[in-house]
Amino acid sequence: MTTTWIGPEKILAKKKEYLLPCLYHFYQNPPQIVRGKGVFVYDNEGRKYLDLFAGVSVHALGHCHPELVKTICDQVSTLQHTTTIYLNQSIVNLAEALAQYLPGDLSKSFFCASGTEAVEGACLLATLHTKSSEFIALSGGLHGRTKLGMSLTGLSFWRTDPKPVGGITHIPAPHYNPLSEENNLENSEENCLASFKKTLESKAGKIAAFVAEPVQGNGGIRFFSPAFFQEIHSLIKAQGGLFIVDETQTGFGRTGKKFGFEHYGITPDIVCGGKALGGGTPIGFFSTTPEIASSYTRPGASTFGGNPVTAEAAQKFLEIIQRDNIAEMAAEKGQFLGNLLNELSSHFPEHIAQVRGLGLMWGVELKDHASRNASDLTDQILEDLKDQGILLGKTGPERNVLSFLPPLIIPKEELEKSVSVLKEIMNKALSR
Ligand SMILES: Cc1ncc(COP(=O)(O)O)c(C=O)c1O
Repeated sequence: MTTTWIGPEKILAKKKEYLLPCLYHFYQNPPQIVRGKGVFVYDNEGRKYLDLFAGVSVHALGHCHPELVKTICDQVSTLQHTTTIYLNQSIVNLAEALAQYLPGDLSKSFFCASGTEAVEGACLLATLHTKSSEFIALSGGLHGRTKLGMSLTGLSFWRTDPKPVGGITHIPAPHYNPLSEENNLENSEENCLASFKKTLESKAGKIAAFVAEPVQGNGGIRFFSPAFFQEIHSLIKAQGGLFIVDETQTGFGRTGKKFGFEHYGITPDIVCGGKALGGGTPIGFFSTTPEIASSYTRPGASTFGGNPVTAEAAQKFLEIIQRDNIAEMAAEKGQFLGNLLNELSSHFPEHIAQVRGLGLMWGVELKDHASRNASDLTDQILEDLKDQGILLGKTGPERNVLSFLPPLIIPKEELEKSVSVLKEIMNKALSR
């Protein structure tokens, strides 16, 4: 393992020389993170940072969880990879564990190596099952970086290719806040549903699926009302289409339930995801019912999907989150964090537009002010927090939402300390 660190300046220089320029990073002065333990990461100079972004919703159990590390190391030193053309018990045991964890009869899975591939696979399956290639997605959603994933994405910031693949219609997303009485929406639910119905009609009998995140993570931590999802679910089913949820960010306890869709009282036809399930190793999966799965019989393979290292790590991850009641804990800590953030918001009525969240997925949306542009203020706050030893995320179409996706094991005291530092930093930033 490397112990000589080249430092941020040299990394930036090599990044510029050898990586594609599309790989952005946070911060004017980014640290070189070299080590992680629990809710903390450390830079090359030994500075400690509280990680409130968890590698973008990956490290649900914190960095280098000892049981995950042991499982991974044991498997790495025994058998790393063979592919699915040879029999291996790790992949089938993981599929069984996932079937037991998923609700309903979502009992058949396919494993791949990223969330993007999971979305692609889910859409392919929907096409095979319905014999249609028409999809409906939501504005503000994000579904990956490939041509199809990006085409389903309804956020211009992440739509590098302005010419999406055909067959995809975006409808506006109603912006519903589960904690606010004032759902006085620019995109009212009625308007969004009307747009959905119009799209369905225009594609009569030809729809493959509706694809959505239960909570729009990159879209700025945005929610929907249960009634909205339920209505879409029944409309699409009536047309013979499928309902696909993308749980890449929201799955496995993040929102205080096993899956984000459980907040809406629907069971999707296909669930896809990745991130946290791999326990820090690359993973993607899509799961469905036996009936829908039976449409995918032609050869399909993923070289690294369900490899023994990832499959063992993912089984251990599922075992730990259930044994330690991680989702329930996330729900409880989320309420605590929500109270702190609402209190914070009451101090900055001119700069905070809205606080919203569920479980340990929270967004503080900043608003433009005569003195400060919200997106610049977001960057300033992130930089100052980093200098004070706290790593926070930012999301939203305008890049103006401070985003909390901490490890689900985070102690309440750390949440309390970090919101208090955020308050100090906002006071300072706004007095400049
Ligand atoms: C909801 C959602 N879907 C898909 C993806 C793509 O996942 P990956 O980067 O693992 O390909 C992401 C990544 O952030 C995501 O948040």
